[in-house]
Amino acid sequence: MTEAPTTKTPDPCSFIIFGVTGDLAHRLVLPALYNLAVSNLLPEKFCVVGVARKSMPSDELREDMLKGLKKFANRPVDDEIARGLLSCLTSIAADPEDPSSFDRMREELDKLEQRRETTGNRLFYLATPPNAFAPIANELSRTGMLEENGAWRRLVVEKPFGTDLESAKQLNKQLLDLVEERQIYRIDHYLGKETVQNILVLRFANGMFEPIWNRNHIDHVQITVDEKLGVGHRGSFYDATGALRDMVPNHLFQLLSLVAMEPPVKFDAHSVRSEKADVLGAIQIQSEAEALNNSVRGQYTGGTIGDTEIEDYLTSKDVKSDSTTETYAAMKLTIDNWRWAGVPFYLRTGKALGTKRTEVAIKFKQAPFAMFRGTSVDELVQNYLVISIEPTEGIALHFNTKIPGPSIRIDGVEMTFRYKDYFKATPATGYETLIYDCMIGDNILFQRADGVEAGWRAVQPFLDAWQKAGADGLRPYTAGSEGPEEADELMTREGRSWRKLC
Ligand code: BG6
Repeated sequence: MTEAPTTKTPDPCSFIIFGVTGDLAHRLVLPALYNLAVSNLLPEKFCVVGVARKSMPSDELREDMLKGLKKFANRPVDDEIARGLLSCLTSIAADPEDPSSFDRMREELDKLEQRRETTGNRLFYLATPPNAFAPIANELSRTGMLEENGAWRRLVVEKPFGTDLESAKQLNKQLLDLVEERQIYRIDHYLGKETVQNILVLRFANGMFEPIWNRNHIDHVQITVDEKLGVGHRGSFYDATGALRDMVPNHLFQLLSLVAMEPPVKFDAHSVRSEKADVLGAIQIQSEAEALNNSVRGQYTGGTIGDTEIEDYLTSKDVKSDSTTETYAAMKLTIDNWRWAGVPFYLRTGKALGTKRTEVAIKFKQAPFAMFRGTSVDELVQNYLVISIEPTEGIALHFNTKIPGPSIRIDGVEMTFRYKDYFKATPATGYETLIYDCMIGDNILFQRADGVEAGWRAVQPFLDAWQKAGADGLRPYTAGSEGPEEADELMTREGRSWRKLC
């Protein structure tokens, strides 16, 4: 085992959560802060400021957050630690539609920081709907709260970063007019997952994978993010968004870029993020006709998953009854560079499917020649390296082996490494790493503006083509199934197939 680098304690700071009464703050941000408190990774001089549009007594907010913490924490809550953390929570009201509220906020914050001795370092976490990012940032800037006068000021935003290429560019510009790129932390929670971070370690801390990690040896790559959950209570967000926007340019492209990027010269934010942006920028931009030909979109109809009845997407709450929003998306992409020319990347993601499974499967080329009589190469098991992210966390290698006995008979076997067999995992939401990194000022795990725009550029033809096609080509699939059958054809027409997910 390598020595752990000394864990740095973050500088004294104020952690300011906009949208403190919302789902994200309760479900993910506070439980992550709590886990950091348990691990002693919060600075000693620290305060949390909960910002909501309407004013609320601090005591009331503390009680509400404590209830939320008990509901969402991924470990039993120690009352003393929780109350210790919440004792430094103060409620402040600010609404971008009432600019004077931001002037008042500034004064209150200055006073609070003096009392708490947090030295002016501020992390503004915008746990709000995306349309509030720019208005809040504008007000923070107008009132001087983003100015770095010897103290650091950071802005954390969550996906979605725009809804298409133009809006992403606009949002990046709006934010970059106010702060520098290094001050912006764009969170994609996939990068908080251990198994996702491990892709870089697998590739670049081992000598044996990289020599075969290219078009000479890899036939294709499959990236799957299948979910069992339907649209649930998120109908109005989801119906305006769809599977592609919700998952592909962010989560699936994070996986793709880690698998496909060139080795960075250094493990620092600039080098890693540049390589990731470069490979996303090398995804071939398809014409709308090509995008239609290389993609499948579907929408689920009612069905059952296990014991749970899933209602038809079109009758779900806050979904338009004639909606053509896709709940499933599959596509084929190619990357125009020396490493990947001619190697297709197949991506698929959907809601209300029979299994919950997130994985990257690297399919190696078939053995070139049938040396073993009676077993043609086509009958050999396909060589896959599978990086499992959920529900199993691990890595599996699929290869052929001899069945014991006098004659040569061959069967496929799987060699599996599971995280839980090797490491005692500390309960984590994935957000701890990200929030801790924001506090110590490490941007490696955050998206940079150029990477975000390169992602949208690659999916834009699919968005345009699908929008024009409307209901044409939208394939129904039953909740609990593996998705539309047409997604299989995307691969079988090229002599390939999706890995069966059981
Ligand atoms: C979110 C999407 O970003 O990621 C959700 O908005 C989706 O629709 C979720 O369910 C999936 O995350 P995970 O970690 O469960 O794969």
